[in-house]
Amino acid sequence: MVRANPLFLLPFPLCVSSAVLDLGPVEKASARAVQQHGSPAKFHGATRATSLHDQFHAVKKRQEAGNSTFWLESISHQGVAPYGPEGYEVFRNVKDFGAKGDGTTDDTVAIQSAIRTGPPLVYFPPGTYIISAPIFDYYLTHIVGDANNLPVLKGSPDFQGGYLIDSNPYFTGDLNWIATTVFFRTIRNLVLDTTDIPAENEVSGIHWPTAQATSLQNMVFELSAESGNKHQGIFCESGSGGFIADLVFNGGNIAAALGNQQFTMRNLTVNNAATAISHFWDWGWTYKNININDCEVGIDITEGGHDEQAVSSIVVLDSSFSNVRVGIKTVRDSTYQPVTAGSMILENIDVQNVPVVGHSYTPDGPTSFAGTIPANNRPASLVQANRFYGRSRPQYESQSPSSFLSVRAGGAKGDGQTDDTAVLQEIINDAAASNKIVYFDAGMYVVTETLKIPAGSRILGEALPVIISSGDFFNEMEDPQPVIQVGEVGDTGKVEWSDMIISTRGPQAGAILIQWNLASPADDPSGMWEVHTRVGGYTGSLQQTQQYCIVAYMLMHVTEGASGLYMENTWLWVSDHDIDGDGQLTLYSGRGLNIESTEGNIWLSGTSVEHNQLYEYQFVNTKNIYMGQIQTETAYYQPNPDATLPFPPVESLHDPDFAKSCEGKEGRCADGWGLRVVDSKDILVYGAGIYSFFINNDAIGVTSMVDIDGQNVANFADNANVFNENIALFRNA
Ligand SMILES: *[C@@H]1O[C@H](CO)[C@@H](O)[C@H](O)[C@H]1NC(C)=O
Ligand SMILES: *[C@@H]1O[C@H](CO)[C@@H](O)[C@H](O)[C@H]1NC(C)=O
Repeated sequence: MVRANPLFLLPFPLCVSSAVLDLGPVEKASARAVQQHGSPAKFHGATRATSLHDQFHAVKKRQEAGNSTFWLESISHQGVAPYGPEGYEVFRNVKDFGAKGDGTTDDTVAIQSAIRTGPPLVYFPPGTYIISAPIFDYYLTHIVGDANNLPVLKGSPDFQGGYLIDSNPYFTGDLNWIATTVFFRTIRNLVLDTTDIPAENEVSGIHWPTAQATSLQNMVFELSAESGNKHQGIFCESGSGGFIADLVFNGGNIAAALGNQQFTMRNLTVNNAATAISHFWDWGWTYKNININDCEVGIDITEGGHDEQAVSSIVVLDSSFSNVRVGIKTVRDSTYQPVTAGSMILENIDVQNVPVVGHSYTPDGPTSFAGTIPANNRPASLVQANRFYGRSRPQYESQSPSSFLSVRAGGAKGDGQTDDTAVLQEIINDAAASNKIVYFDAGMYVVTETLKIPAGSRILGEALPVIISSGDFFNEMEDPQPVIQVGEVGDTGKVEWSDMIISTRGPQAGAILIQWNLASPADDPSGMWEVHTRVGGYTGSLQQTQQYCIVAYMLMHVTEGASGLYMENTWLWVSDHDIDGDGQLTLYSGRGLNIESTEGNIWLSGTSVEHNQLYEYQFVNTKNIYMGQIQTETAYYQPNPDATLPFPPVESLHDPDFAKSCEGKEGRCADGWGLRVVDSKDILVYGAGIYSFFINNDAIGVTSMVDIDGQNVANFADNANVFNENIALFRNA
């Protein structure tokens, strides 16, 4: 994707205002996404197992029989794909495509027919679905089971293939999709069962090479319990980021075999595997709340051995090992290369009956160590039950469909054209007043003024609906305006918000995509799960082929009075390429995530911020922040122009002033920051992949890894690692 960048010219001659650009004939975004990435099965022309009419009646009958207790099955399904094919259905119940889930019928073909006709939300009612071959999962697809009664996907005794679910098949020697650009998909509420497949077959529950804004949540892996079996739960061999939470593994040779650039995993329990986690390469990884019981080996990071160590670093915190023969298996000795490879941070680990957790070198060794590893001092407000607070994305599984207010039922169009601002605001206000949950049916909702989310709101999207700002209101660099504003300044209360993309259309030089003002108590914080910002680079954004446009002022601002906020699996992204096409993009957004909360009490679990001008993460006058894992990439195009353009620094926002700080300095200086901390304390980062190494769309590197007051305090040359440079521990207080 690397290519030369033409010289920068002000003032952005190619930008066209959305007001004068008619969208014209709707493009087939979803179809293109699948086809451009080399879909194994064509989007169009797939035959459906049953007609629309039959599907409608099937759903109705089940409702009448009172069979489902999960609201998602029986709620009205009205999501649309404005740029998808004619008559495209977002919600697909696998039973409407002929799957039986009766524990005997082979459902492989029926399930695949529900999944292959486009990027949808594929729903599994309770039942046991027998499959005899892998189910192929697609880009942009959301697979969701009944949260109250997890459906089981079970391999038959004659199962042919390597994975029950294959989310990125090897039809050739290469993965079908480039793993680092597989975004926006999820699987939740499912049991993957390989126990009927012969123990000697090499089979995994799921093949999941993946990247940002993807997740696996609330899944159980039932694997062979026979000794010497070759079953695995997850196989993930590549990608850039992703998030996984709330998994249980029973049995197997390896519960999770993992390699990826950087990743966050939270709340995994492994019982009775030979090896719980075979961690075979990474740059950085955060394991939080990992509970390993009755296994031979807990985490194995020996891949590559002494000379070609493949693991850069792992962080394991708030976890437990019980009845494990070797807690963590490494090969480290004093001849080891590169010098910082295999770095490991363990904190707050409860250990029961583990003869060896690992070997330590202080500085000579090996010395075996065992026993509990205590926590460092932690701000009490960030901790519950001796672990950093964590809360999974709410599924509202005990609610009934009548607890939800659908925005489409309320009159919003979500068609990518109609201005939905007023009707959305009315529904959001009504829902908060009547204690209902706002349901954003799939679609693209255009707003031309700020949408306000009051305290008490609960908002949930169907398969990542998009709210897209448009028009002059958001295009004044001198008068920035929030697209979504959570709480007015001074408000207290709580908001829960999940599964959505906030975006901008055309030039939007004054758009603050999310402004968070609400103060919530530390022991009952607000939450934002799988809410992303995505600016440009997809059908409907009007920023697919245009270059050098100013598309956002700031991606997210947590203001001074805000506090008590839990964010999980959130990707704040300025597109560097067109996900519905294939071109590289240069788009300008001023700032990434700016946290100025005086009280703090903010948790960032599996977040990333990419490609902004001045900084990705900035913390100013704040405290009590937990992060792990965070990831950044600076703007690929810099230094052409450098970080002084096009947004001038704003003093009240505490922007870095490169023109000032670089004055008189030789060489390259004005580059956007990956992570900038100003006048703050108790900023705790448990794993970070800060990729600040782009020059004119090419990757080069940095010399200083950490600066304090303009001084380099950690030099790259001291910290060589497998690909990246790595610091295991940096503490300045
Ligand atoms: C409802 O569930 C029962 C018991 O599982 C089943 O026999 C029946 O076919 C289901 N009805 C519908 C309409 O799905
Ligand atoms: C961990 O996951 C299990 C399901 O696997 C869930 O029941 C539990 O509530 C989760 N715990 C936390 C702290 O998220």
